[in-house]
Amino acid sequence: MKLCIISGSTREDAASCHVAEYLKSQLTEISPNGETSIFDLAQLELPLWQEGMDETVVSEQKQQLANADGFVFVVPEWHGMVPPAVKNLFFLFGNVFKHKPAYIVGVSSGTGGRYPIVEMRASTYKNSMINYLPISTVLDKVNTVISKQGEYIAEKDFMKRRLDEGLRFLIEYSKAFIQIRESEIAKESRFANGL
Ligand SMILES: Cc1cc2nc3c(=O)[nH]c(=O)nc-3n(C[C@H](O)[C@H](O)[C@H](O)COP(=O)(O)O)c2cc1C
Repeated sequence: MKLCIISGSTREDAASCHVAEYLKSQLTEISPNGETSIFDLAQLELPLWQEGMDETVVSEQKQQLANADGFVFVVPEWHGMVPPAVKNLFFLFGNVFKHKPAYIVGVSSGTGGRYPIVEMRASTYKNSMINYLPISTVLDKVNTVISKQGEYIAEKDFMKRRLDEGLRFLIEYSKAFIQIRESEIAKESRFANGL
């Protein structure tokens, strides 16, 4: 089973990327036979979607996402919102998320991190048909929890236990959703823009 962790910050040395590294190491520990990749929006510098654009310029990135059975979205709170580069993913690659589960981790260096979770749930699922897990995690004061080396540094395991729980559920959902994608109704693929 393949999982992909999307680091939603386009900033260099972003906390979201450090969190993604940490989550990748946790996934490897929880599920040694699984395959986990990181899709780092700071490294990839994807073009802003334009109508009629040459989509072959992003075909490699599309394939990486298409290969995944499930996703973690590590989404920083910027001006109380999801960064535009994360929304852009749904314009560039909407179909790759179809009938796949995703676990959202909202990130803030302060006491934020909640708004991105609500925004992802409210506005990204309709045409993409992504399925967000009912559980998500707010990682506020992130620099006191995950180091720049992607290590868990908080004194208490409070956040570690919550992140592990989210990852474990993501693994189980990802296994189960393979069956949904292989069903007749999913293959018929009617109502491309939702019901
Ligand atoms: C443009 C911008 C706007 C931000 N707005 C917020 C905000 O509204 N709420 C908040 O808690 N943190 C805000 N932050 C701080 C982020 O929480 C902080 O950068 C954190 O490290 C997560 O983002 P990163 O992954 O880009 O590092 C903002 C950061 C940037 C760059």
